[in-house]
Amino acid sequence: MSEITPAMAYESPNQPGISVREATPADNTALLALDRQCVVAAATPVTFDRTPDFFARSRPYAYWRVYVAENDSGLIGVGAMALKRVLVNARPVEAAYLYDLRVAPSYRRLGVAKAVGDAIRAHVRSFRPTVSYSLVMEGNVASLTFVQSRGSRPLRLCTLNLIPVESRIDPGPDRLKALDDSAVEAALRLARAAHPGHDLFPFVDEASVRDRVHRLEQSGFSGLYGWEDGEGLAGCFGLWDYSPIMRMRVLEATGEWSWVAGRDLHLIFLTPLGFRQAHHLVEVVKMAAARLRASPTPGAARVLAITHDRMDPAYVGLEQFRPVRMGFTLFGLELSERGGSSFGSRLVFVDPADL
Ligand SMILES: CC(C)(COP(=O)(O)OP(=O)(O)OC[C@H]1O[C@@H](n2cnc3c(N)ncnc32)[C@H](O)[C@@H]1OP(=O)(O)O)[C@@H](O)C(=O)NCCC(=O)NCCS
Repeated sequence: MSEITPAMAYESPNQPGISVREATPADNTALLALDRQCVVAAATPVTFDRTPDFFARSRPYAYWRVYVAENDSGLIGVGAMALKRVLVNARPVEAAYLYDLRVAPSYRRLGVAKAVGDAIRAHVRSFRPTVSYSLVMEGNVASLTFVQSRGSRPLRLCTLNLIPVESRIDPGPDRLKALDDSAVEAALRLARAAHPGHDLFPFVDEASVRDRVHRLEQSGFSGLYGWEDGEGLAGCFGLWDYSPIMRMRVLEATGEWSWVAGRDLHLIFLTPLGFRQAHHLVEVVKMAAARLRASPTPGAARVLAITHDRMDPAYVGLEQFRPVRMGFTLFGLELSERGGSSFGSRLVFVDPADL
């Protein structure tokens, strides 16, 4: 956020005097307040609490920008973009990820999100990315309609699996060890083998794994874990407590959600990077849950959160934990022919940082 983009005037026929500019650290308090007002009206309506730092959600990325819309009464809208180097069609390309779109309830349907989106689009264009993409929660009609009105196509259905840490999961064998820097090469090899041809795979080389680990160090990431068999590293995953960045509230905590009523939901992302065999995923969930149970967080409903492409067969083993599921649609757009022309026809790797 060092070079501030000057305000772009935006004139709505119903609501004149709206301008869009790049956010600065001084906007933090207003952005946290705006975020709290914005219920994400999805199939499971949720709100987020991102105190103390609205921008923490963006820090896992090497390059990101946040844009805000304001009028006489203050800040009324926000949206963000990050640039990521990812694999698309097995080739490393630049992707623009679009996220964090919010407009204050009393200023909706006036084109504020469109104005923020236009500012972001102009900025993105200068990088000539191959694809752009965004994730929208199932049932969020406003957002689903909005992204399609901007030309994005629905490409893949994705799932966020939530498995309560406190549920009765037998601990399984404790073969885990924390992996250090010397294991990155083996971990990446395993991760690539477990995600053959997956689009949006964000670890294009060893440096990108290290970069991500480094960026998450202050943000709840507890590290990479794995275990070995006779042939070397047999499985590895990352464990990332996302609660320092954001806590979630489920607004209608009934039925399968009743166990979170009145409590903040803390997501702990379990990123299954790689496994020699599919059944290892089940072992990993057991080992991770046991590890987390050893450090309880009173008052919070903690869940292991695992994201994946709904069609990815590697994740069927999760079924036995009967996770609560939230659906997402990945929307995308090919912006150049370089490798992106069949974007959406292959499975995708869902990066937890993108949720
Ligand atoms: C989604 C959201 C950002 C849209 O903001 P907005 O400023 O009201 O959107 P705009 O006025 O720019 O709308 C542009 C177009 O999007 C579509 N759209 C926006 N809101 C819509 C709604 N509630 N129902 C149907 N279409 C909608 C329409 O095509 C609209 O064009 P039109 O008004 O000419 O018909 C806003 O509803 C919001 O903040 N929701 C809560 C937070 C959220 O869900 N964010 C997205 C997380 S993925």
